[in-house]
Amino acid sequence: MARSGKVAVIGAGFYGSTTAMRLAEYDIFETVVLTDVVDGKAEGLALDMNQSRWIEGFETKIVGQTTGMDGSGYEAIQGAEIVVITAGLPRKPGMSRMDLIETNAKIMRQVAENIAKHAPGTVIINVSNPLDEMTALAQIVSGFPHARVIGQAGMLDTARFTHFVAEELNVPVASVTTLTLGSHGDTMVPVASACAVNGKPLADLLPADKIEELVVRTRNGGAEVVALLKTGSAYYAPSAAAARMAKAVHEDSGSVMPVCAWVDGEYGLAGAYLGVEAELGKGGIRKIVETPLTDGEKALLVEAYEAVKTKQADVKDL
Ligand code: NAI
Ligand code: 2OP
Repeated sequence: MARSGKVAVIGAGFYGSTTAMRLAEYDIFETVVLTDVVDGKAEGLALDMNQSRWIEGFETKIVGQTTGMDGSGYEAIQGAEIVVITAGLPRKPGMSRMDLIETNAKIMRQVAENIAKHAPGTVIINVSNPLDEMTALAQIVSGFPHARVIGQAGMLDTARFTHFVAEELNVPVASVTTLTLGSHGDTMVPVASACAVNGKPLADLLPADKIEELVVRTRNGGAEVVALLKTGSAYYAPSAAAARMAKAVHEDSGSVMPVCAWVDGEYGLAGAYLGVEAELGKGGIRKIVETPLTDGEKALLVEAYEAVKTKQADVKDL
């Protein structure tokens, strides 16, 4: 596919910089814009990334831009078809994603206001935590249609589940299919009934208690990395997830992915951002795809919905 268009990444921390690098290495965009409030950080990283172009063989240019709290510098995102929001504090060991809500809500307000002002036609992919709530806030502040504001969590959680299954059975990750829905938190719903290895149901390959162990490890996947790193949270798998979503939007691919999307009657649930499978295209979410669930999984999805809906109702006041 010919190179075209602009994608912007707000926040040049670990998540943002790795996302920008992956997007540039796809070599499908004309420009990747990377911004941060720390003076020179985005410019420095962009220069470094650009200098890898000859070695890695891609032509996409990365533009670094410092932005001010007054919104200065945001002209750089003008015309972006996709903006990935990674600005926000990550967790420290012992912290829950929810402990970040007040600090990250302030950052989200400032970022989403400027996106709405400078890139009013864009598709927002938010990754900032707590994910479901910050995605809801990005939509409220930007005023964009729900289809154009998406959160990244399900791709990452599904990738983690897939990795754990592949490790357990010592098979290639490409042979494993898994799925997680629900929230990016305690009410994450790993969908064991949709899991298979080379088309064979996971339940035929592993005992129920082992599957449950992998499910619990997936649910705690982010905390496990945080506890090991001690400063900051995961970014390699998270950036792969966000970059793939941006690629699907850019290419108008119609790929179906687990993402955080606004439900409007699907599964009988409405009025909240929730982890579901959805088809992605130019305008963001084309449609939510309802996955067949067991009664138990459906009950867990409803539980997740109730939990995130309550919290999302409060974010407008933050
Ligand atoms: P980081 O601390 O490395 O980077 C955050 C960056 O945001 C910093 O460079 C900071 O200067 C910048 N920033 C702060 N306020 C800003 C503003 N108003 N405008 C622009 N930039 C601003 O953190 P990291 O690891 O990059 O994580 C970023 C966020 O992503 C965190 O909230 C983290 O919890 C979340 N995360 C989400 C995941 C998911 O699956 N949804 C997975 C991993 C992390
Ligand atoms: C993760 O799941 C902390 O949300 C982040 O890695």
